[in-house]
Amino acid sequence: MEIFIDTAKLEEIEQAYSYGILDGVTTNPSLVKKIVDDLKSKGKDVSVESYIKKILKLARGTPVSLEVIGTTYKEMVEEGKRLFKKFNPVAKNVYVKIPVNPAFEEDSENMFDGIKAIKTLTKARIPINCTLIFTPEQALMAAKAGASFVSPFAGRIDDDIRKRVGVKFEKSDYFPASGWEKSGKILEDNGVVSGVDLVWQCVEIFRTYNIKTKVLAASIRNARQTREVALAGADIATLPFYVIKEMLTHYKTIEGMKSFTADVVPEYAKIVKG
Ligand code: G3P
Repeated sequence: MEIFIDTAKLEEIEQAYSYGILDGVTTNPSLVKKIVDDLKSKGKDVSVESYIKKILKLARGTPVSLEVIGTTYKEMVEEGKRLFKKFNPVAKNVYVKIPVNPAFEEDSENMFDGIKAIKTLTKARIPINCTLIFTPEQALMAAKAGASFVSPFAGRIDDDIRKRVGVKFEKSDYFPASGWEKSGKILEDNGVVSGVDLVWQCVEIFRTYNIKTKVLAASIRNARQTREVALAGADIATLPFYVIKEMLTHYKTIEGMKSFTADVVPEYAKIVKG
């Protein structure tokens, strides 16, 4: 499974690439807002354009998703083309992020505008990451429209299921892949019992029909959930920096390191250190 970092913070991107395990970057308007707010609060000048260019250069050779902000077909196509034209020449690694359905209400006139924009931009050879996927059928529609990646939001499905039953939780808390049981029943969102289940269902459909679109598990909240989307067959998981770090931690590893280090005898140290 490929690992992307889900952030717009340059330092985090730089550090994660230095580990040699990173395969790409995803951003969204909320993540960009975070860095703009942060820079402003430090009294620093904010040039989002040069900031994005730095990200693209750091990520050279691996995809970087940049999201549109429009909610109509016309806006999304124009913005997608603008983002690609402006930023792809920097390192040839831009993927345009388009919401699967940009409507603010169900059954709105523009509900298919995301799908239509994906089709048009794909025809223009602009690679698309289709975002805000909450059902396997949305993923199928996005794939049919030509998206290179579909991004099911695992964590937000889990949040929603927990909220419905009034469970208090921290954002990074584990949610069982097999679902949340209440009064002997597993809670579900129209046949999806967890974020990991959503990812698994997308993967199964794509495998069944030999669909080449990659399943990019997004909105990941902890290392165990990352493991579970890997087991579910996700092609990619995009992770906040803290989850990337959490993926290497176990208290027994620390304990083991302490005891191995304490047991080093001079005779062995001499051989190893030379
Ligand atoms: O990649 C999507 C992600 O940024 C959303 O994550 O944690 O806000 O649900 P989250």
